[in-house]
Amino acid sequence: MSTVKKVTDSIIYVGVNDHKIDLFEGQYDVPNGMAYNSYVILDNKIAVMDTVDINFTHEWLDNLAEALNGKSPDYLIVQHMEPDHSANIANFVNTYPNAKVVGNAKTFAMMAQFFGTSFEDKQVVVENGGTLNLGKHQLTFVFAPMVHWPEVMVTYDATDKVLFSADGFGKFGALDVDEDWACEARRYYFGIVGKYGAQVQKLLQAAATLDIQKICPLHGPILTENLGYYLDLYNTWSSYGIETDGIVIAYTSVYGNTKKAVELLADKLKAKGCPKVVVNDLARCDMAEAVEDAFRYGKIVLATTTYNAGIFPWMREFIDHLTERNFSNKKVAFIENGTWAPMAHKVMKGMLEGCKNLVFAEPVVTIKSAMNDANKEQLEALADDLCQDYLARSPQTAKKNDMTALFRLGYGLYVVTCNDGKKDNGLIVNTVSQVSDNKIAVCINKRNYSCHVIEQSKELNVNCLSVDAPFDIFKRFGFQSGRTVDKFQGMETAKSDNGLPFLTQYINAVLSLKVENQVDLDSHIMFICSVTEARVTSDRATMTYTYYQENVKPKPQTEGKKGWVCKICGYIYEGEVLPEDFICPLCKHGAADFEKIQ
Ligand code: FEO
Repeated sequence: MSTVKKVTDSIIYVGVNDHKIDLFEGQYDVPNGMAYNSYVILDNKIAVMDTVDINFTHEWLDNLAEALNGKSPDYLIVQHMEPDHSANIANFVNTYPNAKVVGNAKTFAMMAQFFGTSFEDKQVVVENGGTLNLGKHQLTFVFAPMVHWPEVMVTYDATDKVLFSADGFGKFGALDVDEDWACEARRYYFGIVGKYGAQVQKLLQAAATLDIQKICPLHGPILTENLGYYLDLYNTWSSYGIETDGIVIAYTSVYGNTKKAVELLADKLKAKGCPKVVVNDLARCDMAEAVEDAFRYGKIVLATTTYNAGIFPWMREFIDHLTERNFSNKKVAFIENGTWAPMAHKVMKGMLEGCKNLVFAEPVVTIKSAMNDANKEQLEALADDLCQDYLARSPQTAKKNDMTALFRLGYGLYVVTCNDGKKDNGLIVNTVSQVSDNKIAVCINKRNYSCHVIEQSKELNVNCLSVDAPFDIFKRFGFQSGRTVDKFQGMETAKSDNGLPFLTQYINAVLSLKVENQVDLDSHIMFICSVTEARVTSDRATMTYTYYQENVKPKPQTEGKKGWVCKICGYIYEGEVLPEDFICPLCKHGAADFEKIQ
């Protein structure tokens, strides 16, 4: 049955469906076949857009003849030289010897490699942005290198507002099979073009300047409606964004023990409100489907066995597929299994080292042969970490009084310096904000000696700590009182015009402030100040509270200890019950800033 059909009044589809194929590009399973699309533009001059796979020469030439209806084509436009589209160039030239062949310099170089000739006497070589006038139809060629080969170009027909998009917006599946577009387009995209997100982004930027009403790809259906949907998906895919909320678990299991852990985790994730949990057994599922899922969801669990001092082969292949395609912007969790020397976690994490913007979930679950009770608890904790956002969304499961939410405010950390008339003093604060064009608010705990000093002196300096500040600075200014010690002893400082000291290292700016007003906030006093001097001292990034917690504060040595640990300084209180009025002897924070050692 002929596949010829009108796209517009003067553009005719002449592509073919392939149901004989077993593996597309020698590797992709295509249960619903494949379409190789080709188009004819009928005008004063007639152009044919690309050819088809070598196994469909006669079907395609028949389609072409039907569309041409006795006329002869003037041009064959070659947008892509991969053989699924270019294989019949020589057959076209033999059938229509008067037609010219349109391509770019790279197209013709490849043509010589494939056919032993680049058809010199028929060449029309176009540049990026070059045009071809067919009469009514004005075609513009836009180079799209690496979407999916370096010679690829797409073609815009300004008359019918059609974008001929080469492999872009293509999918697996023949056109005589009705199936969801996104599923097979996503598998096609990540399998074939996934590595080239940056290049696809460039193409999308070029497309955004055009009025496009139809997209005619070289595979898959012609897109005619709701183009924003397809463009949005391509934008998400090519920017490695998260398309669907949920978690994918990819695993291998030799004797079923890793599988049991995966199944338990999947149950826990569902119970905690994860909107979608996808489980892929890498030894049995379609690898391209697993790869597509890895890019589709924002979180992934990798579970595998230690094998030959490395990891199980299917997992190695899977991670290779991800890293080759610039896997990034995900939360990743690990479950490893090993009977005598488990090292799958180390190997998997090492393989992901070059990936950008990955966050790793805690804890790593290490199974020794078969799951034990400790593993079950670890899986529970891992599910909590992975579902943190889902749990917080639900009114039933959200912790509504989790004051650590305050730590997520974008606090910087500062040394506030002052002078009590006899000596300089300083303390660490995280409560400095610009509150109007020329006013800064600084809140200081009344328990701190500096609060008392500033209430009287009405002057202070705010030293903005930078990320190179060591933990010693926090100990010096944060863990002792200026009433009893000289915090500046042995430390080099400089003075601002108000006579107060500022640090000569570990800061990126210093502000001299004069107190204009103050507000009593029970535990703290808010000093509202004007700026009398402001100096930038380095270009290093500002030390934030989060940066301090993650990179500066030493990890408390809690192993083997029972009791409570101070989240601010790491002090350990060894005892079953922490008194409610307990004050940390190091940093002077109260019981609320302690957490139980697990
Ligand atoms: Fe459909 Fe890259 O060829």
